[in-house]
Amino acid sequence: MDPRPVGVFDSGVGGLTVLHECLVTLPHEDFVYLGDHARLPYGPRPLDEVRDFSREIGAFLERQDVKLIVVACNTATSAALPQLQAELTVPVLGVITPEAHAAVQTTRNRRVGLLATQGTVDSGRYASLVRALDAGVSFHPVSCPRLVPLIESDDPYGPETEEAVREYIAPLKEAGVDTVILGCTHYPLIRPILQRVFGRDVTLVFSAEETAREVAETLERKGMENDAGRDGVYRFLTTGDPAAFREMGRRFLQLPIGDVEHVTLAELSAV
Ligand code: DGL
Repeated sequence: MDPRPVGVFDSGVGGLTVLHECLVTLPHEDFVYLGDHARLPYGPRPLDEVRDFSREIGAFLERQDVKLIVVACNTATSAALPQLQAELTVPVLGVITPEAHAAVQTTRNRRVGLLATQGTVDSGRYASLVRALDAGVSFHPVSCPRLVPLIESDDPYGPETEEAVREYIAPLKEAGVDTVILGCTHYPLIRPILQRVFGRDVTLVFSAEETAREVAETLERKGMENDAGRDGVYRFLTTGDPAAFREMGRRFLQLPIGDVEHVTLAELSAV
């Protein structure tokens, strides 16, 4: 038995889509979630910079005595997963591989689209994973720089978001994809808009549920689970404004959110 919490991080509130599945799958585990709002968005930044941020956060969470880290951000996974796994002593799980698998298994016409940040598209991680699984799949990546700022704005479900979605998915409709990877943990938060614009014939793939299952399996196989009979607790940290995080987090997580603690960038880089 291991009573330590699981650490989860993202640039902002996108990782809450993953945290929610973890809370449902593992109600007896404790979680600590860090949103790096002071440096959001990660998507347009060079991958080297995102790698540095991720390494800081990974080391910080390890110092918080977590037993496993979930990189609940596709951009950070693309930029830094191997480095985090090599440098940290706790297991580190990312979010890209389960989506690539699911997309290749799901597609019937072997045309797969990807919506993701610039960094994730530029890293080429999805393209090489999809190719490794089925070299006959035609793959259509689209970067969507406006979506994360809109989702983190005061009006995530407004007409501007719908207009941006229509613009970004136009090349995917043109290509006739039947399966689209939502390759950013923020995007499931606007799933109703995406699904309406794509229509029912397109399957949207995202990894929150799969990732939660992977967390559960990893803890079980390594014998690192907490006592199954207890109620887990979760807490939140942000490098940005705690009140703003609390408000947005409540809207998206739809669970009670207690006090949000502030972490300075200096505290992160000190580790
Ligand atoms: N949720 C992050 C991801 O999955 C958003 C990146 C950003 O901050 O641009 O890529």
